[in-house]
Amino acid sequence: MTTIAIIGAGPGLGTAVARRFGREGFEAALIARDRERTEGLATALGREGITARGFTADVRDPEALATALDAAVATLGPIEVLQYSPVPHRDFMLPVLETGPGELTGPIEFSVYGSVTAVRQVVPGMQALGRGTILFVNGGTAVVPHPERAGTSIAFAAQSAYGHLLHNTLAPDGIHVTQLVIPGAIVPGHPRKDPAVLADTLWTLHTDRHGFRHFADNLET
Ligand SMILES: NC(=O)c1ccc[n+]([C@@H]2O[C@H](COP(=O)([O-])OP(=O)(O)OC[C@H]3O[C@@H](n4cnc5c(N)ncnc54)[C@H](OP(=O)(O)O)[C@@H]3O)[C@@H](O)[C@H]2O)c1
Repeated sequence: MTTIAIIGAGPGLGTAVARRFGREGFEAALIARDRERTEGLATALGREGITARGFTADVRDPEALATALDAAVATLGPIEVLQYSPVPHRDFMLPVLETGPGELTGPIEFSVYGSVTAVRQVVPGMQALGRGTILFVNGGTAVVPHPERAGTSIAFAAQSAYGHLLHNTLAPDGIHVTQLVIPGAIVPGHPRKDPAVLADTLWTLHTDRHGFRHFADNLET
């Protein structure tokens, strides 16, 4: 039995992905800041027959994130799939002329340092396993920067570059690195952007293993 670690697992996409992969036999490690909520989500998934556990970490705290991932391996077993999908804070979405170095610290720690920390923590285990998948989930500003959301636009672009580099570098190890861009909002009931539909899309990215960047819907321009 292997594990999917979902970094930034909340009641929306995070839980839907845990449920989708759980149905296929994965155990799910739900990692976020709110211990009570992640443990509650894990308990609810357990009632559906899915093995899930909550772990606490702020992605902006590298030590805590690495510790949570180690605890997930110790509790559930080797991590075969890593999803990096914490929902960005509103403060990261300021107009470009109101964004200085101080305003970029949060978005960069959140999207770049956090994802680099998580990847470096799980890749040796995936290499030992001989397979793995790393799923990056971003909004449309990863592709088309938005002048009113400078922090996430800049940080998502940097994370995308990191993911693309990993895609090429880790392929020979059987580790597929891919990105799902979700333009606009996640909308329950939407034919392509309902959390369960997006979770299906992510499952397909994991099984099909083609290409780096994929779109959940048409890009808004
Ligand atoms: N929601 C949308 O409309 C939308 C649109 C486009 C793209 N996306 C992408 O979809 C993913 C999120 O999906 P969702 O909105 O349905 O969210 P979700 O899975 O329901 O929840 C995401 C969780 O991220 C956690 N989080 C936020 N900051 C964190 C931090 N510093 N450290 C650790 N965890 C943190 C929060 O939990 P805690 O508060 O407990 O930490 C939150 O519950 C992200 O990749 C986002 O870029 C979302």
